[in-house]
Amino acid sequence: MVNAPAVDLAVELGRLRLPNPILVASGTFGYAREMAGLVDLARLGGIVPKTITREPRAGNVPWRTVETAAGLLNSIGLDNDGIEAYIAHHLPYLASLGPPVITSIAGHNYDEFVAMAARLADCPGVAAIELNVSCPNVSGGVDFGADPAMCERVVRGVRAACGLPILAKLTPNVTDIAAVAVAAERGGADAISAINTCLGMAVDWRRRKPLLGNGMGGLSGPAIKPIALRCVYQVARAVRIPVVGIGGICSIDDVLEFFVAGASAVQIGTANFYNPTVSMKILDALPAALTEAGASSVRDIVGTLQLGSPSNCSKV
Ligand SMILES: Cc1cc2nc3c(=O)[nH]c(=O)nc-3n(C[C@H](O)[C@H](O)[C@H](O)COP(=O)(O)O)c2cc1C
Repeated sequence: MVNAPAVDLAVELGRLRLPNPILVASGTFGYAREMAGLVDLARLGGIVPKTITREPRAGNVPWRTVETAAGLLNSIGLDNDGIEAYIAHHLPYLASLGPPVITSIAGHNYDEFVAMAARLADCPGVAAIELNVSCPNVSGGVDFGADPAMCERVVRGVRAACGLPILAKLTPNVTDIAAVAVAAERGGADAISAINTCLGMAVDWRRRKPLLGNGMGGLSGPAIKPIALRCVYQVARAVRIPVVGIGGICSIDDVLEFFVAGASAVQIGTANFYNPTVSMKILDALPAALTEAGASSVRDIVGTLQLGSPSNCSKV
């Protein structure tokens, strides 16, 4: 019997080491308790819980989610219990699971981002911080990710306030995402997460009303995968730090596509809602898929996209 060749699944995102490249995305996995009966949480490469803010937030008025063709539109509005409740109630559970906990934070302004990072700096169980500078559902929330100078300043401030690895999560709702990524790198980010949701709208023409209570929301799911792949590709070519791919991932083929486009790891989001065990299925399939690609580690395949003559494979 021939043994399958060993594949090294570990990845490094700057100072953050992950056991494997399959993570779950903020806002789509709760604080993990909800998924415990369905998913072997200890196997995940990392968990990014729902974004926290300094104070508790009730979020936006309903409706807050609408299904669209191949996607989901949401305007949750960062509904969360605030940083102190997170530290007291959610973090101990998350930290007990094993995978690195990448705590996602959002501030209304520079000072809030920095104060939250300083508060988390010495909290046991936080492996890294993901800066949500890209939420489309909170007024003011998107500005940091839309402006390179503001993004650089907030990353630099957070870096000075805490020694944890930093991931800057960027919005696709800009003209030049690479410029924002370069700014985040200059500010001291360890990695770039790309992308958050794409600003969108759903309309009930009979009532002449938007379907979301907030009017507009963020589109996610398979509908945005081509946009996310394009963003990852552009960012990966512009920065030296690793990129975490997010957007529409729901299969092992999607994961490999993101690796080839330049991602060193991925986060699975909307797919968790309609297929809660998707992360486990992808993890099961990952070693064989890397072997099929001729890679003995994730590193071997990252950014190997060859431009020029297009693939003659009809599958897209
Ligand atoms: C219902 C919902 C809530 C979300 N909440 C957050 C959040 O709190 N923080 C954040 O950074 N991203 C949030 N996101 C964005 C996801 O983390 C992810 O970036 C995006 O959905 C694209 O990935 P996907 O297509 O796999 O879902 C949310 C997405 C959805 C669908």
